Amino acid sequence: MLTFDENELQWAESIFRKIDAKMEKTLPRTKGVIPYRVENGKFENMVKKNICWWTNGFWEGLLWLLYSRTGKQAYREAAQQGETLLDGAFRNYPRLHHDVGFLWQLSAGLDYKLTGNSESRLRALFAASILMSRFNLDGGYIRAWNDYPDDDTSGWSIIDTMMNLSILYWASKELGDARFARVARAHADKSLHHHLRPDGSSKHIVVYDPQTGEELAERAGQGYACGSAWSRGQAWALYGFVISYHHTDKQEYLDASKRAANFFIASVQEDWLPRCDFRSPEQPVVYDASAGAIAACGLLELATLLPVEEGRCYKQAALHLLREMEAHFCDWNPDSDGILHYGSINYKEPEGRNRYLVYSDFFFTQAITKMLGSDLEIW
Ligand code: GLY
Repeated sequence: MLTFDENELQWAESIFRKIDAKMEKTLPRTKGVIPYRVENGKFENMVKKNICWWTNGFWEGLLWLLYSRTGKQAYREAAQQGETLLDGAFRNYPRLHHDVGFLWQLSAGLDYKLTGNSESRLRALFAASILMSRFNLDGGYIRAWNDYPDDDTSGWSIIDTMMNLSILYWASKELGDARFARVARAHADKSLHHHLRPDGSSKHIVVYDPQTGEELAERAGQGYACGSAWSRGQAWALYGFVISYHHTDKQEYLDASKRAANFFIASVQEDWLPRCDFRSPEQPVVYDASAGAIAACGLLELATLLPVEEGRCYKQAALHLLREMEAHFCDWNPDSDGILHYGSINYKEPEGRNRYLVYSDFFFTQAITKMLGSDLEIW
């Protein structure tokens, strides 16, 4: 059970007001834009650049978070504009990937939950069906990507997929059809045994034999190296497994989330500002605020589902992450885009390090609204 004292609530309320104030200024600059990262103070627009890009639902999700708390029509209208633009991704079906969950759960899915829009319901159901079609029946996993330079990715599973399972749990309930949730559970079971290491750290990419499902190899992904601990992947595991627990009551998923959380908490340094990889050299310092924001959401969810006494350490860890990131990473300048600085796309690409990223803003805002008691069922 999750409760906060007066000071904690006042702090969250003051941060929410700052987010709202900055987003009100940002909205007029972002008409027709689906933002990804910030270049020279301005959001990069993915509508023409790559409408299928995996992050294209977070902007709409952020706007729905703001709408659900403020009721301001401008947020709703902008979220619905983004959702309509995203239809271009359906028309590019061969380029779609496992992140159809992120794309449509946070855009159409939240629109349907908040407004009852029947077209949005259809979009979210199409997305769930696309995700289902990526399940490899012989291998027992959801295929992550289609293309990767010079590689056959048919056997590739990534820990990130755990976050996309929500749309399958939702579709099962919505249609009264158990198959979607069955596939979600099958993928979660496989990931539990193959992605999570005994020490609680997570592999980013696991390569299976697509005919048998046998694990063939671990691959380095966006972290420092093969065998390291990419912090965003760790956060996807932490949050993804507790979401699967929420939908299934399966104890192993809760235990997996706690293992991932314990590893995250043990690995984050004294300053609570997450590095991009928990097993990278001390220098250069590469932060990943998105990992901190995602982890904070997962930790708050753990604290919600666990008895107070057991959940306390997870709640405290979430508060440390949020407060330190707010103090050191947040940018409240109304004239530039992006809120939470120091997110990293990929450890190995210097230009991908220490950036403003739309998904950092989404998860940071989600954590703050969760502290304020939001009952919006996002995942
Ligand atoms: N899901 C892709 C990433 O976390 O970068």
